[in-house]
Amino acid sequence: MTSPDLEALRPYWHPVATAAEVGADPYPVRLLDEAVVLVRDGPEAINAFADLCVHRGAKISMGRTTERGLECPYHGWTYDTGGRCVYIPSQGAEQIIPSRARLAPYRCEVHYGIVWVALEEPRLAVPPFPEYDDPAFKVHLGFRQFWQASAARFVENALDFSHFAFVHPGLLGDPRRAEVEPYDVVMHESGFTYELDWHAEEEAHLASSGATIHYKYYCDFPFTSRLDIHGDKGQTTLFTPTQPISESECSMWLVFARNHSFELADDSYSDFSTTIWAQDRAIVEAQHPEKLPVDLRDELHLKYADAPGLALRRMLADIGVDYA
Ligand code: FES
Ligand code: CO
Repeated sequence: MTSPDLEALRPYWHPVATAAEVGADPYPVRLLDEAVVLVRDGPEAINAFADLCVHRGAKISMGRTTERGLECPYHGWTYDTGGRCVYIPSQGAEQIIPSRARLAPYRCEVHYGIVWVALEEPRLAVPPFPEYDDPAFKVHLGFRQFWQASAARFVENALDFSHFAFVHPGLLGDPRRAEVEPYDVVMHESGFTYELDWHAEEEAHLASSGATIHYKYYCDFPFTSRLDIHGDKGQTTLFTPTQPISESECSMWLVFARNHSFELADDSYSDFSTTIWAQDRAIVEAQHPEKLPVDLRDELHLKYADAPGLALRRMLADIGVDYA
């Protein structure tokens, strides 16, 4: 049985794969500790089901695709791409296939080249990424990573900039200028935003020729972060949808969009972030407890430096999560 904390996260969209990964064969993914199978249904559409044959609970993703459909590896029951059982080899052709013989479907949509799944009727829309469809922006997928950390610990770190001076000195921050000026976190129904000026270090070469940049952060509940970096060269957006695989594992994609410096190799953006993320990862994978304690009495919080983490914890508390 899944924990009540994971249960509370089921009615939300979560990213699980890129659409390009899902080919002709059933494609297994894990979401909130559930085994989910993705099935391609034509060039545009992908369907998601519980990765479980209704006959005896074998894993559909261990089967194969035949001309009849998805064949279970155990007794060969075969399902169409809509999840309906169309063939039971051990019974005669004249016998009826029970109408209950169908895979349990989940909501599934493709946006920004990424497959999103909701295990129950979703309460919020798929997180927005307006730059993806804006012709002024060049979009590229930087990389995907798997972390031994809870999705909430990962996202809280992605929203936290007061660690820059210590975890990323000389790259994103300066220990002599660690003070965080007052700023506001603006809450809305599906998440929150906040913005601030920051003194750029190395990062300046990617967004600005000057020493100051402007950050605008978005958290789209539960686990998608988006950061717009505004410099004198233009805007660079880092879109980071995060998949809660289980209570202690997550995976995320880093997608870049920029409206400047098209002459630079895309890799110069990904390479810089790879360095930064390795520094973050060492800290976050070692945090204790592994799950983020949502009760504000459990850790200590600063009014401005920790405001995004507080906002995330409040939203998680509102849907009944104790540890995320
Ligand atoms: Fe799938 Fe028997 S468990 S056909
Ligand atoms: Co960091």
